[in-house]
Amino acid sequence: MKKTVLVSGGAGFIGSHVTVELIGAGYEVVVADNLSNCDMTCFEGVKKITGRDDIPFEKVDFCDAAATEALFAKYKIDAVIHFAAFKAVGESVEKPVLYYKNNLGSFLNVLEAAERQGGCNVLFSSSATVYGQPEKLPVTEESPRQPATSPYGATKQMCEDILQDTVKASGGKIKGILLRYFNPIGAHPSALIGELPRGVPNNLVPFITQTAIGKRACLSIFGDDYPTPDGTCLRDYIDIVDLAKAHVYAVTRMMEGKMDEPCEIFNVGTGRPVSVMELVTAFERVNGLKLNYKIAPRRPGDVTAVWADPTRANTVLGWKAERTVEETLRSAWEWEKHLAGK
Ligand code: UFG
Repeated sequence: MKKTVLVSGGAGFIGSHVTVELIGAGYEVVVADNLSNCDMTCFEGVKKITGRDDIPFEKVDFCDAAATEALFAKYKIDAVIHFAAFKAVGESVEKPVLYYKNNLGSFLNVLEAAERQGGCNVLFSSSATVYGQPEKLPVTEESPRQPATSPYGATKQMCEDILQDTVKASGGKIKGILLRYFNPIGAHPSALIGELPRGVPNNLVPFITQTAIGKRACLSIFGDDYPTPDGTCLRDYIDIVDLAKAHVYAVTRMMEGKMDEPCEIFNVGTGRPVSVMELVTAFERVNGLKLNYKIAPRRPGDVTAVWADPTRANTVLGWKAERTVEETLRSAWEWEKHLAGK
């Protein structure tokens, strides 16, 4: 019988790409989302890509304990991938209570429901933000976590700890994997799903594509006086489809009971640092257009450089990032054009 994976926040950017890959790998998927930060566009795209009109969609707010409980009672959940969370760093500084309440509350409800059903495999979507500005690069999973610089980052660290403690106390009933994402970018090659930021994008690539299409007048490059080769910040940009595939490897590892420890951590990155300026130039080159940009002051809270050592994911999970940055930037542009109806 097919195993069932619950994807919380499954209508969003990462969740929709993960759903496509899980279905492709033969899993049944239950998509649940409260649609607080997305609409049904990506879920409709998922149905088209997979040719599956029958994927269950549940409009659920995971902060509602009873609704979460009911979801676990309705389906036999073999694994849950938890994405449902707020993710804007700046907003989290302005509204910490909202962020702690939503991001911790929803995850606690998921864990409580998992405990109540007698156990579950739990994959938590964490972030490279837990490493802060690392002393040594690239970062391995053993690199020390730094104090969080925003409530958003703090919720990621806290949820990591909560899962570790829950797994430890469960006597083997709950297994956990923490995936620490670096900078996910791009879109599905079909251009039917991708990133759909509300309002002015905070992240670099949506801002680039929206500038290219004419929705934004000018991209600001935040700082060119960092101690890096070209003065702009270095990040590890990971293709969204590659990132989604890592989830399939991780879920399968949990399902097949192949874990070395009951709670494991993997960096999901390419191991390749790319500067903001290099990314902008590559976008222009591969898509044959000129971008209107200017150098602006540094953005408060930005780290100079962070990129992954993905060796553990490569060797233990057997996963590796495959798409080139050029392919990824092409897909981001195709998605933006698809949104504009071009
Ligand atoms: N940048 C610009 N102009 C923009 C937007 C971003 O120059 O308009 C620069 C930033 O200063 C930074 C780089 O592009 O140097 C990447 O910025 P993003 O906002 O795209 O991504 P971050 O690295 O700041 O943060 C991302 C996610 C977080 C996550 C973090 C982990 O947004 O959720 O990676 O490293 F926590």
